[in-house]
Amino acid sequence: MAEMDVEKRGNAIDEMLKKKRDQNPLPEPETLDDLVQGLKIIFQDNEISVEEVNEYMSKYKSNPREWYKYAKFDHHRYTRNLVDQGNGKFNLIVLCWGEGQGSGIHSHSDSHCFMKVLDGQLDETMYSWPSDSEDERELQKTETHSYGKDSVAYINDSMGLHRVENTSHTNTAVSLHLYSPPFDMVECFDQRTGHRKKVRVTFYSKFGQRTPFPDQGPTEQPDVARTGCTSVETLEPENN
Ligand code: SIN
Repeated sequence: MAEMDVEKRGNAIDEMLKKKRDQNPLPEPETLDDLVQGLKIIFQDNEISVEEVNEYMSKYKSNPREWYKYAKFDHHRYTRNLVDQGNGKFNLIVLCWGEGQGSGIHSHSDSHCFMKVLDGQLDETMYSWPSDSEDERELQKTETHSYGKDSVAYINDSMGLHRVENTSHTNTAVSLHLYSPPFDMVECFDQRTGHRKKVRVTFYSKFGQRTPFPDQGPTEQPDVARTGCTSVETLEPENN
């Protein structure tokens, strides 16, 4: 479909969903539970409006008492803690970032990715996709953003790649991520060469319970199973 047609179709869907929601407005999410229930209603539709999800997630005001049980930190890497499976339509995940921890540069498996900061501050660096024809070339930075408590960011593969970091040396950070459709594999990229590698992303805990190590997910690369995309050290050029 031509780019213009895609845009027109997107606008028509947004209009249609807006009309539908104007007739049946969702109550404001007062709690994390409300947020989860509201998101399940929004994602009942086959198409979603990015703007609507963004606004709805922004309306929830972070309350640590509500997400504390999911906030499990690890000294070595950021953690991914599953909160809800969104009736199969999305995964809602609390990510805990220790001081100086960050993700590797990655794409998003053709999914929508919303990120709401629950605590602290997170910095996002965006990169353009490496071109297929270039053998080894440093990834090009395109944008940088800083997100404070309660702000919501959005990315999908058409916007490029990104990495997220807690650059603070004194404060931890916590964020709430919604991925739709859910995925368990992503591509991670080596910043210097642009080479990519598929890695399995796993959960440090599920529904507030620490995931037993052997159940963290089948993989041929046990160290990657633990780290997911958390560490550029796990990346190797694809054709090595
Ligand atoms: C991120 O967007 O940096 C977090 C990636 C993840 O879900 O592990």
